[in-house]
Amino acid sequence: MANPVKITETVLRDAHQSLLATRMRIGQMLPMLESLDKIGYNALEAWGGATYDSCLRFLNEDPWERLDTLKKHLKTPIQMLLRGQNLLGYNHYSDDVVRAFVRQASAHGVGVFRIFDALNDVTNLKTAISAALEAPEKPHVQGCLVYTISEFHTNQTFVDLAKVLKDMGVHSICIKDMSGLLKPYVAEDLVKKLKEQVGLPIELHTHYTSGFGSMTYMKAIEAGVDIIDCALSPLANDTSQPCTETMVATLEGTERDTGLDRQAMDPIAKHFLGVKKEIMKEFNLPGYFDVNPKVLDFQIPGGMLSNMVNQLKEMGAADKYQELLDEMPRVRADLGYPPLVTPSSQIVGTMATMNVIMQANGQPRYTMVPNEVRDLARGKFGKTPAPVKPEVLKAMKIKPEEMVTDCAVEDAKAPTMDDFRKELAGKKVDLKLASIRSQLDSVDPAIFEQVRASQLEKVMAEIPEEDVLSYALFPQVAEAFFKANGRM
Ligand code: CO
Repeated sequence: MANPVKITETVLRDAHQSLLATRMRIGQMLPMLESLDKIGYNALEAWGGATYDSCLRFLNEDPWERLDTLKKHLKTPIQMLLRGQNLLGYNHYSDDVVRAFVRQASAHGVGVFRIFDALNDVTNLKTAISAALEAPEKPHVQGCLVYTISEFHTNQTFVDLAKVLKDMGVHSICIKDMSGLLKPYVAEDLVKKLKEQVGLPIELHTHYTSGFGSMTYMKAIEAGVDIIDCALSPLANDTSQPCTETMVATLEGTERDTGLDRQAMDPIAKHFLGVKKEIMKEFNLPGYFDVNPKVLDFQIPGGMLSNMVNQLKEMGAADKYQELLDEMPRVRADLGYPPLVTPSSQIVGTMATMNVIMQANGQPRYTMVPNEVRDLARGKFGKTPAPVKPEVLKAMKIKPEEMVTDCAVEDAKAPTMDDFRKELAGKKVDLKLASIRSQLDSVDPAIFEQVRASQLEKVMAEIPEEDVLSYALFPQVAEAFFKANGRM
């Protein structure tokens, strides 16, 4: 009986995030949207991840307008990658902000919500998953197993997590292997177990980073995986996904034939080859990364490694590269083996960099500890897979009463949509009133306060919820974007 493998195409999101620093513009996607739509993909991953930040920070694009444009041209479900309580930012947000974000994303056209938490702590997935399940547009809701390797992780750990996600109501499960750590035979076993014990569609997402990519897909396909994530050839392999055309060709004539038309992909691939060259030139990017099997040991996602090398350089310690690679797994073990994915990858990476610098200066490790590292160690971002080592907590001078046992309690203290709306409106009003402020102040400061209060109310009511969300996620970046676009 035919059982076609479905393909999610990542060329519009992860592929350029992995190879081209997330710099693809909507204008470079537009000419191919209709052709992509006709292929018959399971979904087109096109939003979320780093695209939101990149739109505002580097491309002067409103991410919500990008989503509207995509939706206008696509009937194929648009998939987004969402970091649970983290949304697309670097903090934990209140449930109120998470719900507003998911509601808007669904209303603007996200058809598949792929939701993960960096620590695989389901507390951080609850609100996002339930908000997506409640959205009136009835999007597909996918829960993620963030794949990692440690003495605290076995395939059964991930199967058990999948069962919890199923109980939370997700429609499918994604094995999210962001650094390409999943080996072919391990994948076969994991997919088999998930198919037997969970009974939901299983999607596999990997990166070619350590060179397993298509082998891992083959073994997973043999074990019955339902969907694989691939990228069209110009943006495939290396730190990106295995190549779409290759996987389609491989399965042709088998019982798992995808049924997709490879010839129809040619003009699209040709277009994106041109786009790749444009982006490499404009942003001075190499456009490729060597496959590196050592990633199995240091587990650093591809894009991040270059950032860390830069950090070292800036601190005048470029020669400490090897020490950094060695320190990374030590810090990860100290902090309870978190999977390394945004934001835990940055947190562990920064700590490792500082430890290397400290040691080079004759100081013990953990002499200087950034706040977000303390927060991770305190449990503010959720439960780490294993306990943080007591001697590390001691070195960081974290007192027992500072430990967080339920991160949801902390999240409840985070600002709400109303708080962000008020803050943003306040900035707009102050900007607007800056010129008359000194005049009014010299007459009677109370008059200025009255004017401000009445203006504030008006401006608060005018700000679209999408702008409040951009501001909540990336305050400075969004403010600069609004200024550059005459919105404040
Ligand atoms: Co990925």
